[in-house]
Amino acid sequence: KDGRELRIFENADELSCNFAEYIAELSEVSIKERGVFAIALSGGSLVKLMGKLSEAPYNKTVDWAKWYIFWADERVVAKSHADSNYKLVKDGFLSKVPIIHSHMHSINDSVTAEQAAEDYEFVIRQLVKTRVISVSEINDCPKFDLILLGMGPDGHVASLFPNHPAFSEKEQWVTFITDSPKAPPERITFTLPVINSAANVAVVATGANKAEAAHVAIDSAGADYPALPAKMVRPINGELVWFLDIAAASKIEGA
Ligand code: 6PG
Repeated sequence: KDGRELRIFENADELSCNFAEYIAELSEVSIKERGVFAIALSGGSLVKLMGKLSEAPYNKTVDWAKWYIFWADERVVAKSHADSNYKLVKDGFLSKVPIIHSHMHSINDSVTAEQAAEDYEFVIRQLVKTRVISVSEINDCPKFDLILLGMGPDGHVASLFPNHPAFSEKEQWVTFITDSPKAPPERITFTLPVINSAANVAVVATGANKAEAAHVAIDSAGADYPALPAKMVRPINGELVWFLDIAAASKIEGA
């Protein structure tokens, strides 16, 4: 569907099997080409849906030591806090696979959201210099090998919410918000240019409460729909794949 691939599954289990395979394949290609795999994760239900990756055969076949793990967004809370994406991913997934912990970014949880965003951007700039993260051929944005996004019922991705100023930030690679409509209020997030500079982006949405946003994001070519973040996810030189269950895809034309 015009540069976007839609994968629609009967249920979460089928989705997560295909999702694990998709991530493992991109990891293999990237490691073969660049020697590393720079992947950015989101929080929310996505983490459970990628759980198959920490099981056989992937827990043995993926070259985990070559993974560098980042966040499409992170909450500015203690790493041990239930709201932390770092904690969610570490407990739910990464504690089961042999990644190198220093390759996984985590925020210094004693700083302000603004400082956390600045620190994160600095780390990314360093890793672009050392080529752990590629750089886009089109602009100087970091080009992650894969960015995994969930999508809220309002069509937000990462912590870019509809009509929020952070959504239109074009200079910075990482920005921060202190008034997130989805708790907790303080978050740091990739900006849209970084998301759209990725080599691969996957948007994962399941459940009927995502159907309207998925329809608007995928079908609304016309300007008559309110711009919403998920609709603006269009990698400028990369591949976009939507992973949906039939409930979330139920309003997509022709799905
Ligand atoms: C976060 C996530 C956020 C999430 C969406 C969808 O930190 O909250 O990154 O962007 O992906 O809110 O969450 P669900 O899939 O749990 O609905």
